[in-house]
Amino acid sequence: MKFKYSLALVLSFITASFASTVAEVEADLQTISTQTSALDNAITSFPNTGGSLLMALDIHSDAVELGSSIDQGTEDTNGVPTKPFSNTDANVILLAVENIQPVILDTLTDIVAKKPAFAGLPIGGVTALILQDLQNLNASTSNLESALISATPTSLLPVASSIKSTIDAAFVTAIAAYTALDTPNHGNTAGQFTNGNTRRGKPPNPPNQPDSALAASLSPPLPDITHVFSSTYEMQGHFRRVAKAFGKTDVTLR
Ligand SMILES: *[C@@H]1O[C@H](CO)[C@@H](O)[C@H](O)[C@H]1NC(C)=O
Repeated sequence: MKFKYSLALVLSFITASFASTVAEVEADLQTISTQTSALDNAITSFPNTGGSLLMALDIHSDAVELGSSIDQGTEDTNGVPTKPFSNTDANVILLAVENIQPVILDTLTDIVAKKPAFAGLPIGGVTALILQDLQNLNASTSNLESALISATPTSLLPVASSIKSTIDAAFVTAIAAYTALDTPNHGNTAGQFTNGNTRRGKPPNPPNQPDSALAASLSPPLPDITHVFSSTYEMQGHFRRVAKAFGKTDVTLR
């Protein structure tokens, strides 16, 4: 009896420490809104030609950061003990999501529009990284949508479901665009590793060979190009090795 009592106490303490509030969910949505805008700005300011690898990796970092905030929103939504939310709370939250929705849609349209710019970078593999970011963001967003829907009162479910369908459809379009581009050769054609305007050497990979096949054919084998580097320095070292494997020692990393 005594044991049972203290166990109940411990459990209630654990529950209390993981509980969250509607206000926290609202704050998470505010953060998601800000970070989605930041990601969209980073994408639209990426130049159509002559963009740098580091700018592309900044977009990747913004996407990763946004993904964590979305996951936090899911955790906090799941952690609110009283569900469904009151009509008042649910309305505030749905309004916040409705305000983010156009920014998400813009971001997904913009990332598709910038696809040729990423594919045209001297180093291949960036579109594969963006695809991975899109898939991760889709998975996180999908979890948050489900969490919010499970907290939405019945009368507001049609609104919540319609937001979910619209956002999911935009992810389908963006991911399809990047999946389509991920197969053909991108960025590793002849001459792209040269400096200035001299075109030298044969294409390191035949047209339409996926980068993954190219990487697999190299000796010593290279890590997956979508590997998340622990530092810019490590990332630069990796790309220097790629360049060296192609016999190009004059690669400039901007
Ligand atoms: C987005 O994520 C959900 C949940 O994981 C999944 O069912 C759906 O297929 C994903 N969409 C795309 C386009 O990959």
